[in-house]
Amino acid sequence: MGEKIKIAVLVSGGGTNLQALIDKQQSGIIRSGEIVLVVSNNADAFALERAKKANIPTAVVSRKDSASQEEFEKNLIEILEKSEIELIVLAGFMCILSENFTSKYQKRIINVHPSLIPSFCGKGFYGLRVHRAALDYGVKVTGATVHFVNEVPDGGEIILQKAVDVEPNDTPETLQRRVMENAEWIILPQAVELVCEKMAERK
Ligand code: GAR
Repeated sequence: MGEKIKIAVLVSGGGTNLQALIDKQQSGIIRSGEIVLVVSNNADAFALERAKKANIPTAVVSRKDSASQEEFEKNLIEILEKSEIELIVLAGFMCILSENFTSKYQKRIINVHPSLIPSFCGKGFYGLRVHRAALDYGVKVTGATVHFVNEVPDGGEIILQKAVDVEPNDTPETLQRRVMENAEWIILPQAVELVCEKMAERK
């Protein structure tokens, strides 16, 4: 087998999706790529602990401590380039990236979103807000989507989706957990392997 695709995972919080990626890398489901860096915009993110435990190098680039979006993205790019990153995985990364950034990494950034796009997505739809909106609307089926990232928030080409039933007594928290367990933690690692496999073939 040829060289593995170098992956950076970008996180902001708990990092359960990062954990799913680490576990699937350890079990060999992700075999065409390797997570070589975890970057958080938040120094307190528990995701950083998960990375350290798995011996993956970490970095923190704070949007708040950056003078502008431009500076934030410049710092991010510098760190990614230093590690020769080829694929960027947004796993619960709560910062919007500008066209300046996304155009530099066309078809090389993927994101997991906790709904069936094009429902409950775009600006303002993140984390528990997505599940609250789904419950308020009364949908009976929701799910998760993994897609390429372009300049339109949650607007890039869809790679994988998985549906999850809404139960009558769901709260945003119970629904979030079911969507993670039954969809996100499954399709994110699958999509990462799919994309890395294709990228590795072209190397
Ligand atoms: C996940 O549900 C992810 O899909 C969502 O945030 C959660 C992060 O959890 N992402 C978004 O809403 C992005 N628009 P995690 O830190 O435990 O992986």
